Amino acid sequence: MTIITMRAALTACAFATLGLSATPALSQQSIVIKFSHVVANDTPKGKGAERFKELAEKATNGRVKVEVYPNSTLYKDKEELEALQLGSVQMLAPSLAKFGPLGAKEFEVFDLPYIFPNKAVLKRVTEGPVGQGLFQKLESRGIKGLAYWDNGMKVMTANRPLHKVSDFRALKMRIQSSKVLDEQFRALKANPQVLAFSEVYQAMQTGVVDGSENTPSNVYTQKMHEVQSNLTVSDHGYIGYAVIVNKKFWEALPADVRTQLEAAMKEATVYANTIAQKENDDALAAIKASGKTKVYTLSEDEKAEWRRALLPVHKSMASRVGQDLIDAIYKESEAAGVKMN
Ligand code: LMR
Repeated sequence: MTIITMRAALTACAFATLGLSATPALSQQSIVIKFSHVVANDTPKGKGAERFKELAEKATNGRVKVEVYPNSTLYKDKEELEALQLGSVQMLAPSLAKFGPLGAKEFEVFDLPYIFPNKAVLKRVTEGPVGQGLFQKLESRGIKGLAYWDNGMKVMTANRPLHKVSDFRALKMRIQSSKVLDEQFRALKANPQVLAFSEVYQAMQTGVVDGSENTPSNVYTQKMHEVQSNLTVSDHGYIGYAVIVNKKFWEALPADVRTQLEAAMKEATVYANTIAQKENDDALAAIKASGKTKVYTLSEDEKAEWRRALLPVHKSMASRVGQDLIDAIYKESEAAGVKMN
């Protein structure tokens, strides 16, 4: 490296630290969007990110280059949020259960057990004023919300059958960094433990945790089913994402580029949300076919017992996520013809 290239590298480094790494004011140069996420490429989010890259690069005629870093290759859960605020990455799609540490605890409303009676209600929430209102809360943190992406309904896994509520007693269950999820497992008398997604497989393998909850696509692509003897299809809760960008970066983009990227994001969102259910159905079928874990679906009576144990979490977490927000979601349910509670 010559002195000059070294100096250029150091300057770039200093800029990155200051959060100015990709200031796109030099509009003729190519603009790089680093898109970091923690799941495999072969998941609803992984595929959505790849589709956005394709569409964005095409729409901007190569003026924008999107670099996708899957599987926590660049940052783990907590670090990626810090990196976004610093401008070391420009785009993320964290699970909605991971916004609490950022100070946007209202997003944890998505973690309340049984809050969404069906996908139609979820769509009304994410595409309506509730979803937009939540994005507003990010602005003061230097973050802009662009879209909501689906993953799907969670299953429970452990090294023992999980049929009745009492089966959870004293189990160490890995959770995402959400106080609502913590409360959910406490309601089941289990011991919740926050762990980054990238650490879950090993924690299961070594017995640091006994079990967890996740979507079939995440369980399968991380091979969690190989280190968990039992999986229960319970439909007790949801995992989805917010695609977010560094606000300063986004607003400094040339207007034409931003418009092209917004259109690419819109199309990638339709794609991701269209494939999510099938990706999870296929993953569950593959888990069953592997024969490595016993898949069990709750009976109606068991479902009712879980609901009785978990619905009180709506009340106990109201002060954290906001009763008004919970009520707004109940209202969307009622507008869709479902009576809540
Ligand atoms: C998890 O941490 O369990 C998942 O939410 C990861 C993800 O992004 O789907």
